[in-house]
Amino acid sequence: MANDKTPTILIADDDHQALSILKQIMMGQGLNVITASDGNSTREMVSEQKPDLVILDNYMPGVSGSEICREIKDDPKTRLIPVVMLTGYTETPDKLEAIEAGADDFINKPYKAVELITRIKSLLKVKFLNDELDSAEEVIFSLAKAIEAKDEYTKDHTARVSQLALAMGHQLKLSAEEQDALYKGGILHDVGKIGIPDGILNKPGRLTDEEFAAIRTHPAVGEGICKPLKSMRIASKIVRHHHEKLDGSGYPDKISGDQIPVVARIMAIVDVYDALTSVRSYRTALPQDKAFGILEEESNKGWWDKELLATFKSIVTV
Ligand SMILES: [Fe+2]
Repeated sequence: MANDKTPTILIADDDHQALSILKQIMMGQGLNVITASDGNSTREMVSEQKPDLVILDNYMPGVSGSEICREIKDDPKTRLIPVVMLTGYTETPDKLEAIEAGADDFINKPYKAVELITRIKSLLKVKFLNDELDSAEEVIFSLAKAIEAKDEYTKDHTARVSQLALAMGHQLKLSAEEQDALYKGGILHDVGKIGIPDGILNKPGRLTDEEFAAIRTHPAVGEGICKPLKSMRIASKIVRHHHEKLDGSGYPDKISGDQIPVVARIMAIVDVYDALTSVRSYRTALPQDKAFGILEEESNKGWWDKELLATFKSIVTV
């Protein structure tokens, strides 16, 4: 749903009379309305037409509204579509089922049109804000892809780092927010390199002190790009701190130990591992055991979190 687009609402109900009344109410608010009267056509319409909101009756032939709601909420492509369930006053088990399925709101039947309209409008507002946020995130992700594409040696580095960091998040049972940050941080950790001249980034020989200083600006620049988005709260910490070392010898803040957020400690290990095991302009890819040899040596020096490194090794060497 964009500013200049009329929101589209999908109403799914097998009761034709109820459906027609609801349709009139919504059209009276200037909304586009599409309708479905069974589970399969509801599924098709959700995936093909991507409505801005779905109103689901709990009872339809062959499938319950909760079931459809769960499918919408489980699919990353549709999970941000608000779902309103129509339930009877006394159907408590249905309501519990709908809550578990992730419904955004309930409307008790018989409903008051004013109440229904108010709730629908506020959910559409949230949907609109989420859509805006999504497009802002997409711009930043495209930026990261553009930077990666400039260097054939780092091709697909961010996708791999993202997947490995996410696997660590799963293994360590981190919160859903932290896991999301690990995924985003994997893609975005080097986005601040946008501010560094290509001549320095791709220089084959030794870097001068000045050139090193330029490289060291990328975590803070990257954080500056991501931080304005609330949805990047944790990911922007990863971006800022992915070059810190446990003994405080990293950059940009030279923080140490637990001062470094766990998600950034994970990213540091995964980032170095992927760099070691991929081809670079100055060397071939190292085999896995050699890469872990180097990482373990460096963790003995005090650079990396030993426990996290052991967990990471157990994941990738299965
Ligand atoms: Fe980096």
